[in-house]
Formats: sequence, structure tokens, C-alpha cells
Amino acid sequence: MTPEVNQVSWAPSRYDAAVEAGHRERGVVLEGYSPFKNTDLADPVLREVADAHGVTPAQVVLRWHVEHGVVVIPKSATPERIRANLAIAGFALSADEVARVDALARG
Ligand SMILES: NC(=O)c1ccc[n+]([C@@H]2O[C@H](COP(=O)([O-])OP(=O)(O)OC[C@H]3O[C@@H](n4cnc5c(N)ncnc54)[C@H](OP(=O)(O)O)[C@@H]3O)[C@@H](O)[C@H]2O)c1
Repeated sequence: MTPEVNQVSWAPSRYDAAVEAGHRERGVVLEGYSPFKNTDLADPVLREVADAHGVTPAQVVLRWHVEHGVVVIPKSATPERIRANLAIAGFALSADEVARVDALARG
């Protein structure tokens, strides 16, 4: 039986187009955990994209998941961060911005 959802560690540094496509082909929702633990939030690409939208690099990381159709589950014990992590519906990344974040997986 095919699962509905598969939870895997996912972040720009772990982006793998083949893994993403494999989930889509099988009709399995990719749910990414630990979006920040494997991310350098001071990365210049994330900073630049964030500045272009007036958001934080963390919000860019979360929005990048959404643009890929990946369900993202960030965790925070900080109320301000929890609110910010939810507030990612008011902007969208361009295809070029998504590709630049994808490329962080290649260093
Ligand atoms: N299925 C599995 O095997 C598996 C494995 C690991 C985790 N998970 C689940 O995935 C969820 C998230 O994983 P995780 O806690 O490992 O990783 P995460 O969400 O990537 O990282 C959590 C860390 O990021 C910080 N953070 C959160 N929002 C931030 C923001 N806006 N700006 C800067 N830092 C921010 C948090 O700090 P503060 O708390 O200090 O704000 C905390 O130190 C959890 O609910 C966990 O249950 C599942």
C-alpha cells in the first residue's frame, strides 16, 4: 500500500529534484521536517531574496517549501517566531528565486 504522506528531512541544503519528482509520481505528499536545522539563515542568497520581499530568510525557506508543494513543519518555542513562520502567505517566490534557493544544495 502506498502511504499518503512521507516525512523526510528537507531544506534547501537537502534539495533533491529526483526525490521530489519520485514522490509526485507516486502521489505521495512530501512532508519536510527540520527546515532550519540544516539551513544557514545568514546565507547571502536567502538574505537577498528575503530583502527583495521584505521578509526574513526563515520565511523564504518556508515559502520555498510551499512553492515546491512540500508540506513544511517548522518548530519554535518562541511566540514571535511561531507567528512569523505562519505569515508566509503574503508573498511568493519567482521561478528564478526558487531556482537560486534550489542551488544551495550544490553549495
Ligand atoms: N519524522 C521525523 O523523524 C522527525 C525528525 C525531526 C523532527 N521532526 C519534526 O519536525 C518539526 C521541526 O523539526 P526540528 O525542530 O528538528 O527543526 P526546525 O524546525 O528546522 O528547527 C527548530 C529550530 O529552529 C529555530 N527556529 C524556528 N523558527 C525560527 C525562525 N523563524 N528564525 C530562526 N530560527 C527559528 C528554533 O528555535 P526556537 O525554538 O528557539 O525559536 C529551533 O532551534 C518538529 O515538530 C519535529 O517533531 C520529525
